[in-house]
Amino acid sequence: METTSTMQDSMTRKKALVVVFSYHHNNTEKIARAIAGVLGAELQTPEEVHPEKLREYDLIGFGSGIYSATFGAPLLALADRLSFDAGKKAFLFSTYGAPGFIADKKFIEDNHRQMREKLNLKGYQVIGEFGCAGWNTNSFLKYFGGINKGRPDENDLKDAETFARTLTEKNNEGK
Ligand SMILES: Cc1cc2nc3c(=O)[nH]c(=O)nc-3n(C[C@H](O)[C@H](O)[C@H](O)COP(=O)(O)O)c2cc1C
Repeated sequence: METTSTMQDSMTRKKALVVVFSYHHNNTEKIARAIAGVLGAELQTPEEVHPEKLREYDLIGFGSGIYSATFGAPLLALADRLSFDAGKKAFLFSTYGAPGFIADKKFIEDNHRQMREKLNLKGYQVIGEFGCAGWNTNSFLKYFGGINKGRPDENDLKDAETFARTLTEKNNEGK
């Protein structure tokens, strides 16, 4: 039987989807699962998404490892396939392999720019962005164990959950 609070949850909670591309060490998938857990969201890969079904969702997250300073090609291609949907709420998240002293808010937003611009062209409104470090053994880095080993860690997952809670509040604004 539903308690009053779970009934309220199901009334205020909007249907959410998290789409993730994560192949290097599944770093971004860990963040995706943390966010999806808070939002009660379904998780899909870009290949699993049917663009015509996205109208069912009130909030859609797009997450990727950062490869050559942008989102993975399958997500960028998905953004190109989306139908126009004015005001659709979306959020972006990523894991990057750069060391912490480089990776400030601007670095994260710069890596997200291409995806954000593609979504904006489709009428999507990006209401939040999140990024954290991920283990990176790309190229020569593999010869000495990589950088950001152990990331995302427990703190990163907690930060991702906190980020997801702010999304719920923003998504419910004005409803
Ligand atoms: C081919 C490739 C290119 C990468 N390019 C960048 C980059 O430009 N900037 C960066 O910060 N990290 C870069 N990385 C590191 C990844 O962003 C990082 O390891 C990320 O956590 C991988 O996410 P995933 O395990 O979800 O695929 C690159 C990794 C690979 C494999």
